Amino acid sequence: MPAPNPLLAAHSRLGALACLLCLPFMAGAAPESPSQEHTAEAQPYPLVIGHRGASGYVPEHTLGAYALAVTLGADYIEPDLVMTKDGQLVARHDNELGLTTDVADHPEFAERKRSKTVDGIALNGWFSEDFTLAELKTLRAIERIPDVRPGNARLNGSLQIPTLQEIIDLSKDLQRSQQRQIGLYIETKHPSHFQQQGLSMEKPLLKILRENGLDSAEAPVYIQSFEVNNLKQLSRDSDIRLIQLYGEGQPFDQVSSGGSLTYAQMATPQGFKQVAEYAVGVGPHKSAIIPLDSKGMLDPANATRFVADAHAAKLKVHPYTFRAENSFLPVNLRKGDDPQARGDIEQEIDIFLDAGIDGLFMDQPDIGIKLRK
Ligand code: G3P
Ligand code: CA
Repeated sequence: MPAPNPLLAAHSRLGALACLLCLPFMAGAAPESPSQEHTAEAQPYPLVIGHRGASGYVPEHTLGAYALAVTLGADYIEPDLVMTKDGQLVARHDNELGLTTDVADHPEFAERKRSKTVDGIALNGWFSEDFTLAELKTLRAIERIPDVRPGNARLNGSLQIPTLQEIIDLSKDLQRSQQRQIGLYIETKHPSHFQQQGLSMEKPLLKILRENGLDSAEAPVYIQSFEVNNLKQLSRDSDIRLIQLYGEGQPFDQVSSGGSLTYAQMATPQGFKQVAEYAVGVGPHKSAIIPLDSKGMLDPANATRFVADAHAAKLKVHPYTFRAENSFLPVNLRKGDDPQARGDIEQEIDIFLDAGIDGLFMDQPDIGIKLRK
């Protein structure tokens, strides 16, 4: 039986009504994960996480993208968080704002353009930590990959950068109207960088979650990070379920930021045991589970031991990122030559489900929900 829903409990005036609203979720629960015996809580299987919202259909990290992900049935929505100059948590994948906002079109912010090195990468642009929340609210979101998602780009200029509190408020309202539990799968972006700026993310994050009754292990909340130290800190300061992200490709051999092991070392039986001391699950790139072959093809015979070894350490496995367009699919799952067209994403998901994953980050969460049914 799922745990009581803290979002409802905290915000409903009638506790009894909160219990009633839990019922449809319980009654409609999807099959349980193969690793369910490792978890304290029943969850739909596979867990479908709306990656940056329904970012396949609406510019990422906007209330519109999150609302659509929920409407399409996602179990969790995924805000990536960065800090503002005045210590507010807002949803952006990068603290550099040029790729996903219209900041370049604001002459009043021209002099804020900076060159910075963030997590070892040299960048030139506009950075969230140099803007107050009020200033960020004057910007509008734009589509990151307009060539692949021109439909999304038609919404350029329509949607604001949301705060974490606005995302929580949205999820509460949608939870009431949909009468089902909606979870938050929060990622802390660049925590060491923000700490160096005097803008540590962890305390304000825990404060907001606590104020919203979402700071327990039973809350429908995960916090994920590519870094290690901030997850360890969060595990000392709260009971919220944590997910260790793993870098992809070549960086798989790099030392995880804030840790002492490489991601490859963290993906060994011994490494998973260490991760399990502070996290309940792991979020690898898909290629850690089934690497593409030299021709860019996906062959289930190439599956690694990643899932089996993570499960042996009682860790859930939620790989990223499943995207429907040909341009993101393995060569053997593309349909036709149009990079924008939808390929055989269903087969890709089936192959990864057969490999034993427990959930997946999806830009088009409706596809995961349809397959689950
Ligand atoms: O958080 C899982 C996945 O979202 C990590 O990749 O770069 O999309 O945040 P990214
Ligand atoms: Ca993310």
